Amino acid sequence: MTSSWLQLAQKTAIVTGAGSGIGAMGYTVARSLLNQQCRVIQVDRDEASMQHITKDASVVQCDVSQEDQVRNVFVQSDNPSILINCAGITRDGWISNLSNDDWDSVLDINLKGTFLMCREFIRLQNERLKQGEDRPACSIVNVGSVVSELGNLGQTNYAASKGGVLGLTRALAKEVARSHIRVNAVVPGFIDTPMAQQVPVHVQEQIRNQIPLGRFGKPEEVADLILFLASPRSSYITGECIKVSGMISL
Ligand SMILES: NC(=O)c1ccc[n+]([C@@H]2O[C@H](COP(=O)([O-])OP(=O)(O)OC[C@H]3O[C@@H](n4cnc5c(N)ncnc54)[C@H](O)[C@@H]3O)[C@@H](O)[C@H]2O)c1
Repeated sequence: MTSSWLQLAQKTAIVTGAGSGIGAMGYTVARSLLNQQCRVIQVDRDEASMQHITKDASVVQCDVSQEDQVRNVFVQSDNPSILINCAGITRDGWISNLSNDDWDSVLDINLKGTFLMCREFIRLQNERLKQGEDRPACSIVNVGSVVSELGNLGQTNYAASKGGVLGLTRALAKEVARSHIRVNAVVPGFIDTPMAQQVPVHVQEQIRNQIPLGRFGKPEEVADLILFLASPRSSYITGECIKVSGMISL
């Protein structure tokens, strides 16, 4: 996609989970945004994983499940109009073996983290609108998973968290449309990232057999959809949860 077509130049985007996989600077969301001359604020709990490469790509260490750390991201962000919530974890296990901590940490990071980031972004936009500022249209892109719809063995906590993200996305889109903020979600299938590589190889093979396109997705294929939803090119799309999954069925 050419930079002029997406119209992302000179905008500022916050990307959580920017240290690895789909969100990362290595080759995906953060990198694609920079290629569009967009300013990028990389956010991850693992500071060492983020890359200080140009003055247009800053780094803020933050655990998205911690309210004070989320506030700090916005103190350090100059006028963001795009928020991309990629931070997420899995803690897989059969429900009888899941600890409270396995449940809480997945819900805290995947769902509460998305809520906290969205809330702070929206507060900032609303404050500026109240002060009479001429604000640009904004876009939030959340990341769900097909697992919330299809179910998957050993992922009750993860499926619940991602189902929550999709519900949050639809409800929030209605709330904030009047503040010129669109909210959408991408819903990946099985994407070849460090998260997916934690799955045992024989299970990966079984999953691959359930994908009509016959392969796992690449992080950049998710990034392309995220960039479209972040950009003014999708200006009449909000409240949507769009799959990028090779039509996987689990
Ligand atoms: N890979 C897949 O197959 C797949 C499928 C569906 C959905 N997803 C979702 O896509 C998103 C990105 O996943 P990925 O595959 O790139 O994973 P990944 O593990 O490669 O990257 C996730 C990043 O999130 C960061 N992170 C984790 N907890 C955090 C926290 N509390 N605060 C800030 N950052 C934190 C990690 O440090 C890491 O850099 C996640 O939300 C994941 O659930 C992935």
